[in-house]
Amino acid sequence: MSTHKKRQGQYNAIPLKQDRQQICVCYDVYSDEIIEAIQKGADSVEKVSDLTYSCQGCGSCRFKIEGLLQGIVCVSRE
Ligand code: FES
Repeated sequence: MSTHKKRQGQYNAIPLKQDRQQICVCYDVYSDEIIEAIQKGADSVEKVSDLTYSCQGCGSCRFKIEGLLQGIVCVSRE
């Protein structure tokens, strides 16, 4: 179950975890790869995509990447 519920236009703020979970199904990119890209200076979905190839297919992972960029966990915590 995802934790990316929106309430009145706000995401639930959850501390960023380092758990390795798949973010982009199309390109098989995991959360640790996204976090590494962010730590290398990627500050937009496009820059994360350039470094990891995520979000270059169907685009449904965009909101998860945006959440990780904002320091919000958008992946399963179960
Ligand atoms: S899930 Fe990332 S591009 Fe489709």
